[in-house]
Amino acid sequence: MPDTRGVPDMKPTTGTCSSVAFERQNTSAVSDNQCVTTNTTCVFDTRRARYVRQECLTPFVSELGAGGERLQKIGGQNAMKLESEVAQHYGVEGLLERILAGLEATGADVRHLQPEDLSSFDEFHVGGHEATVHAVKRMSLSEDQQVLDVGCGIGGAARYIASEVACRVAGIDLTPAYIQIAQTLTHRVGLDDKAAFEVASALAMPFEDETFDAAFTFHVAMNIRDREGLYREIARVMKPGATFCVYDVMKKNEEALTFPVPWAPSEYTSHLTTVDEMRTLLNDAGFEVEEVEDRTEFAQAFFRQKAAAVVDGPQPLGLEALMGPSMPEKFRNVVKNMGDERIVVVQLIATRKT
Ligand SMILES: C[S@@+](CC[C@H](N)C(=O)[O-])C[C@H]1O[C@@H](n2cnc3c(N)ncnc32)[C@H](O)[C@@H]1O
Repeated sequence: MPDTRGVPDMKPTTGTCSSVAFERQNTSAVSDNQCVTTNTTCVFDTRRARYVRQECLTPFVSELGAGGERLQKIGGQNAMKLESEVAQHYGVEGLLERILAGLEATGADVRHLQPEDLSSFDEFHVGGHEATVHAVKRMSLSEDQQVLDVGCGIGGAARYIASEVACRVAGIDLTPAYIQIAQTLTHRVGLDDKAAFEVASALAMPFEDETFDAAFTFHVAMNIRDREGLYREIARVMKPGATFCVYDVMKKNEEALTFPVPWAPSEYTSHLTTVDEMRTLLNDAGFEVEEVEDRTEFAQAFFRQKAAAVVDGPQPLGLEALMGPSMPEKFRNVVKNMGDERIVVVQLIATRKT
């Protein structure tokens, strides 16, 4: 069945991006992603909420820099479509302005921010800052190192490492709006010399082989279907002996999840693995798994604390800023999925084999 989300029924639809010539006269106009009017292959572009000719994903490909073309070669149109959808899920319109307004409302000096001003919302993973501190302790980082944050979001964990350890941190993320926010906030806390961010896909990163002394992914792989490709790519840019930390939601069994969850509105962009699958994936990609830590109890305590905080009313700045009004529903669903033992929260430490 063709994907008809966002295509209004029985109304002609003309695209808005420059090269679009796709007109949909009725539902039968889209068949197996083929537009009968123009006889071209069409894909659903969530950024424009309509079917467009394949070439119209070009702006998204170019936002991903050199990696965009590589990704298109490796994964083809399906990979581009999936990644475009993930970026759409996270890239909420006007987010930077809302964050700056929220910061002003809390009395922060928005031109010269302190890391504490951001800590209520800039680490977008279960347990927030506490989880970051816990993971960083296990990574044995030092000042002379280069660290990679794969799927850095708006850069909270990278900034924490840059200021705490004083090493250099590079962050990449698929969502252009997040990278813009990461750059702005990093500049305003005065950490540009230590932390740099760019738009890129984790499946095709813009780095030379064996660049990094350590790397981490916090709650990113849950969106990535091509896990072999992901861990192979991370191993490629890490030096032999380097530490890799994964902090993720993983599945416990094959039972379907209740959606939406914070990382995905539906199963189309949710790609969880089990802990055992992770061990195999990492091992095959060239990592030695050193430690697996179940953080589910910690996660449950985090959500209990969040639920209690909601009683005091929404905060001016919090994860709501990133997740929008559906945050309570998404949190409830994660708690339910955890309570029903369908998912676990796991931190994993591995070393890039020599
Ligand atoms: C739940 S957020 C976590 C962000 C950050 N790691 C943190 O903990 O604050 C997931 C992030 O993964 C990014 N992401 C998902 N798939 C990606 C991919 N293929 N390449 C790069 N980033 C990706 C999203 O854009 C989003 O910023």
